[in-house]
Amino acid sequence: MTVLSRLSALPTFLKAILASYPTSIQDLRNPRNLARLLLTLAFLSSLRKSLLSAARSQAVRGCSPGIISVADKDAIREILVTADYPKSEIHEGFELYDQHNVFSSRNKSFHKNRRRLVAPAFGLQYLRSLEPIMQDSVQILMNKIDEILENPKSVKKGTKVLPRGHINMHSFMNRLSFDIIGKSAFGESFDMVLNDSHPVPKQMAKALKRSMQQSFNPWIRWLIPLDRSFIAFGCERVRTRKTQGEDGRRADLLQYLIDAQARERAEGNGETGDEYEDMIAGKLTDRAVEAEAVVFLIAGSETSSTAMTNTLMYLVNNPKALKRLCDELNQATATNQKGSIPTYDQVRNLPYLTACIHESMRLRPVAATGLPREVTEDTVMGGYKIPKGTIVLAALQELHWNKKYYPQPSKYIPERWIPEESPFPDYPIQDFTFYPFSAGTRNCVGKNFAMMEMRLILATLLINYDVVNVPGQRTDYVQFITTAFATESYVIKMTKK
Ligand SMILES: *[C@@H]1O[C@H](CO)[C@@H](O)[C@H](O)[C@H]1NC(C)=O
Ligand SMILES: *[C@@H]1O[C@H](CO)[C@@H](O)[C@H](O)[C@H]1NC(C)=O
Repeated sequence: MTVLSRLSALPTFLKAILASYPTSIQDLRNPRNLARLLLTLAFLSSLRKSLLSAARSQAVRGCSPGIISVADKDAIREILVTADYPKSEIHEGFELYDQHNVFSSRNKSFHKNRRRLVAPAFGLQYLRSLEPIMQDSVQILMNKIDEILENPKSVKKGTKVLPRGHINMHSFMNRLSFDIIGKSAFGESFDMVLNDSHPVPKQMAKALKRSMQQSFNPWIRWLIPLDRSFIAFGCERVRTRKTQGEDGRRADLLQYLIDAQARERAEGNGETGDEYEDMIAGKLTDRAVEAEAVVFLIAGSETSSTAMTNTLMYLVNNPKALKRLCDELNQATATNQKGSIPTYDQVRNLPYLTACIHESMRLRPVAATGLPREVTEDTVMGGYKIPKGTIVLAALQELHWNKKYYPQPSKYIPERWIPEESPFPDYPIQDFTFYPFSAGTRNCVGKNFAMMEMRLILATLLINYDVVNVPGQRTDYVQFITTAFATESYVIKMTKK
């Protein structure tokens, strides 16, 4: 697991070195470029070794010329919160339709303004209106699971038929989170749970993988251009919604953006009409609305689905924790009818449910290879001088696995998050040692959305089904944009309660 996760960090590192890679033979006449090429080759040959042998506990580690990985608590805090360094050029790979957006932007004032415009959509109050969307989607999932439990052959044509009672939770969590973000951000379910044939999620996964590869192999761009059809889908949905006017109004994230645009225009912050100028100035143009909606789609699918699958994986492998969580859930929903879906109010403040989710995000943060930021002035971190322009990776997984903060770091122990029950009373959870949603001004804007989704879905499943481990499965993971199961599969044995 460790080795794979290390190797899968390659794309991020490569992208950063190859950003200034000579792109033609002519470039090599310049001695600086030649030197860069030689350095890159030397780096590549030593990379395997250095990655494999890197000590987990090392606080500051050189990864390549110009990139260091930082796992020290104070240094990470400085990077993300105190100094609040801007994002690195790696993030430019996320400039959809050449638009800066709330995720990709490296410009602080742009980001501040854009964040102000989109953040209220993820405020607790607005999220309330998304509760029925999440509940409807998980109801559809339960119906589908029941159908497969009844008849294992009712999985999609072409998919492996599993033994009775076995459900590929990885696949269903992924499909469910697409349905939810589809409905929340575009007003339209992809019906992935039912049908698993909507082209957009597949196009998106392919395009993201390719854009990551392109960013470190620029020549691929000439051979295979990026498939932008999933972006076209986003535009189409926004346009349809706008032409429907008041009749098309729905309580969802897209509506929030469209209303924010209308407000901006009414307040005199509208566009000048010069596309480039409007983009740089952060005006909420039609294309900006489209780009932000597509960012929601990208950021709100694989991330939460992997976190949910991880949590289920740890729970079926830790029957005591699972039992304890089920007791908590049953108690909280004792008055509900059998087979029903809890309300968010019933599950939002359950300490053990939260602890189980936190512990799985500690062990497998979605950004396992670290968050890249660019140091804007010469500084000192962990006793090392870091020159201006260096890319520092806030290595979250290394921090989350540090024995100094988390005794028995590789073990799934949800109780450590509950002070009165922690088996490690001398190690209270410290601030700034846990960053599942990053931190500082660039923390995840969708955090509340994700926590609400995870709580509701995990609770619904565990209230309604007994879940049991299916041993002998691969659980190693890879990272392109976020971490995901390398096999794209995790099977759990389920029986209806
Ligand atoms: C599934 O999707 C395909 C393609 O969109 C469609 O042709 C088919 O009718 C759908 N099937 C169901 C059961 O909804
Ligand atoms: C940064 O963003 C602000 C506001 O969007 C804009 O006025 C400024 O020109 C931008 N700076 C750069 C270097 O793009």
